[in-house]
This record gives sequence, C-alpha cells and structure tokens, in this order.
Amino acid sequence: MSEKTVPEGHALSGKVGLRRYLSARMLPLVVLLLVLVSASAPLAYAALQARGLREQARATAVQAADAVAREVQERPVLWRYDAGKLLAHLRAYVDNAGAARIEIADRSGVRIPLDTGSITSPAASGPLAWEAAPIVLNEEVVGHAWVAVSLAEARAAALLLLGPFGLLGVGLAGLLYFIPLGAITRAERRIEQSQAALARFNQTLEQQVAERSSQLGEAYEQLRQKEGRLRELSARAVLLQEAERRVIARELHDSAGQALTAIRINLQLMVQLAEPDSKVAKMAARTLTIVDATLEEIRRAVSMLGPAILDDVGLVAAIERLCDDFEREDLEISRELEVPDGGLSAALESVCYRVTQEALTNAARHAGANELRVVLRVEPAHIVLEVRDNGRGFVPGERGEGSGGRGLVGMRERVELLGGNLRIDTAPGAGTAIHVELPRRALSDDGDDSAVVVA
Ligand SMILES: Nc1ncnc2c1ncn2[C@@H]1O[C@H](COP(=O)(O)OP(=O)(O)OP(=O)(O)O)[C@@H](O)[C@H]1O
Ligand SMILES: [Mg+2]
Repeated sequence: MSEKTVPEGHALSGKVGLRRYLSARMLPLVVLLLVLVSASAPLAYAALQARGLREQARATAVQAADAVAREVQERPVLWRYDAGKLLAHLRAYVDNAGAARIEIADRSGVRIPLDTGSITSPAASGPLAWEAAPIVLNEEVVGHAWVAVSLAEARAAALLLLGPFGLLGVGLAGLLYFIPLGAITRAERRIEQSQAALARFNQTLEQQVAERSSQLGEAYEQLRQKEGRLRELSARAVLLQEAERRVIARELHDSAGQALTAIRINLQLMVQLAEPDSKVAKMAARTLTIVDATLEEIRRAVSMLGPAILDDVGLVAAIERLCDDFEREDLEISRELEVPDGGLSAALESVCYRVTQEALTNAARHAGANELRVVLRVEPAHIVLEVRDNGRGFVPGERGEGSGGRGLVGMRERVELLGGNLRIDTAPGAGTAIHVELPRRALSDDGDDSAVVVA
C-alpha cells in the first residue's frame, strides 16, 4: 500500500499518481470520520448526563429557595445572623440531592455569607454546573438560591466511552481508507498486466509489420527490376523491329526496286525499238506505266517501313533533310543539331527521327507557325530533342496530348519505351514545344544490355 514500493519514473507512474491523488483526497475525510465516530457518542453521552444533572440542580435550587423563603418568613430579621437551622437544612440537600454546592445570593446577586461560608459536599470536585431558583417573598424576588452539581462523573464516563468508540472510529476509518485503495491497487495490477500483454502484442505486431514491410520492399525491388527488364526488352523489341523494317526496306529497295528499274529500262528500249503504234510498242508502254506505279508503291513502302536515310546519311543529315522538306517561303526552320562522337544507337536514332518527323508534321498541319526551331543536344546523361513552333498552340489533354490523333500518343510511347520522358509545353496562342529527354545509356545494336552506346 505504501507509495514507496513503486519506483519513481516507473512506466505506470499514471497509476501511482491516481493512488497518491486518492489517498491525499481521502485522508482528511478519514480523519474527520475518525473524529466523528470516536467523539460523537462520548460527547452526546456527556451532554445528556449534564442535562440530567442540571435539571436535578434546578429542582434542588427550587427546593432550597422554598426552604430559604420559609425561613425568612418565619424570622424576617434574625435568619441572616442565626443561620444554623437554615444551614443544616440546606446541607441536607447537599447530602441527599447530590448537589455539590449551594449558595444564597441577594436580589442584587451578591452572595450572602452564611456563618460557615458556602454549603459544599465533600465529594465536590472537577467542573461544576450551576442552576438558580428565585427566592420569592410576598410575591417579590428577594434573592436566588444557587445549586451546583459536579460534572466530574459524567466526564469520567464520557472519557471511558472514548476508548471503545475511538477503536470503532479507527476501524471504520481504516476500512474507508484501505478498501478503496486496495481495490485501486488490484485494478492497477490488472491494468499493468493488460498493458504488459498489450506491449507484447504491440511488439509482435511491430515485428510482423517489419517483416511484411521487408517482404513488400523485396517484392517492390523485384517488381522494379522486372519493370526495368521489361523496359529493356521493349526497347530491344523496338530496336529489333526497326532493324527488321530497315532490312525489309533495303531488300525491297535493292532487289525488287533495282529489278524493276532494270525492267523499266528494258521496257523503254522496247518502246523505242518496236514499230510505233505496233501491238508490242503499246503493250510495252502499258507495262511501263504499271512498272512506274509499282516503283512508286515500293518507294512509298520503303519510306514507310524505315527511315533508310538514317543508314545512308546519319541522324543529323536526315533531320536536316526533313527540315528542308518542310521549309517553305513562309516557314523558316532553324536548327541546332549535334550527336555524340560515337553516334547513337539505331533505336535512339529512330526515335529521334520519328519524333522530329511527327512534330514537324503537326507544326505544318496545325500550328500555322512561321518559325520553327529544332534542337538536338547532347547532355552528360541525356540526349535532348526539342521542336518548338510559334504557332497557335492548343489545350493539352490529360497527359498533355491533344485530342483525336495518334501522333502525340505514338511519340510518347516511343520515347517511354526507351526510358525517356516527353513533355509538351503549349497553350492557346503561345506556340508549342515538344521537349524530349532520352537516356544516353541504351541498348546497343549487338544486344549487349550493359553497353553504353554513346560516349
Ligand atoms: N504544333 C501544334 N500546334 C497546334 N496544335 C497542335 C500541334 N500539335 C498537335 N496539335 C493539336 O493536337 C492534336 C493531336 O495531335 P496528334 O499529332 O496527336 O494528332 P493529329 O496530328 O491530329 O493526327 P495524326 O498525327 O494521328 O495524323 C491535333 O489535332 C492538334 O489539334
Ligand atoms: Mg499528328
């Protein structure tokens, strides 16, 4: 129960505070209860006894006053000087009525000394309670008879009662003090156990959370690696597709294109050598037309399949030619083009070329611009491509694209496949800028993932 049993700064100091708080609040109540229970019964007993004794004294005073009155009536003058009879009479009251002292006072309250002084019982001791009764003579109050009773016995009895009632008070106060404190102590112990269980549970929970977090971290890391791998694979797919398309385009151009060109020359010769307006000449001319149409188809297919021009003249010259194609009298295209010394991978070249092509096409189709600027710049970690026009601009959609076409979406897909980032800066009336950043580290053509292609 002692507060000293709980160490200072204990984790459950809240509980100690509650117990201390309660015991501090209850202590005055307990002391009050102790005083009330111990003292009230003895005090009440003493008061009752004193009242009884006072009544007794009053009755004795009345009798004594009557006796004095009678004596004074019988001997109006002499009684003061020969009070022996009166004294004997009054002494009988002291002995028989249990009075401690009797005094006679005149009407002004001055004590009348009888011959031997006051009438006192030999047992008169301790505190006295006085009561008076008037001495009436011819309906006139001539003095008072004062009777005192001793309160010593009542006090002793009350003191005797104080013992058992004091014990009772101590018992009740103890119960009042210790029962709630005991209950609080038990409750605190239970709380302490619950808190310990909670702490254990928390610890387990934290461990589980830590385990789950680390599992999640691992899963995330795996996912990130897989995503990186997927991006690499996508880039490789783009690369392979580009290479494949260029091979097909070259094959088309070199084999079918060359053969058709040879056929065309032969047909032209046939037309010249055959009789004019002969059937052969007409058939050769018709075949020549078909060959021309087929050659045109092949040229279109070759240009669709792959920018073979990249293989032929390289990225910078290819972009220069694109710009030349788009330039008109009322559309000036300024350029600032550089590539790293070792060149770029085929995939990076393709993406740069296609993005420039689409951006220039859009500018020519939608912008109504008269100035265009194409920048290809090399930064330590990136290749930066920017196509900016001073045209009418537009309100970009959710991912910055305009609505309807596939051009901008396709551009972004190509860039993101190589791990790059495309940003469109535009607003109505403020022109449009397509800003692309491509990581310089990309797949090499021979498929070595770790190779740094540009340096
Ligand atoms: N440079 C630009 N200036 C003004 N508006 C543009 C510009 N570029 C794109 N836009 C707007 O964004 C829209 C979407 O462009 P996007 O290239 O995706 O499609 P498209 O050019 O309309 O069709 P597609 O490219 O599929 O042939 C365009 O229709 C146009 O309204
Ligand atoms: Mg477009």
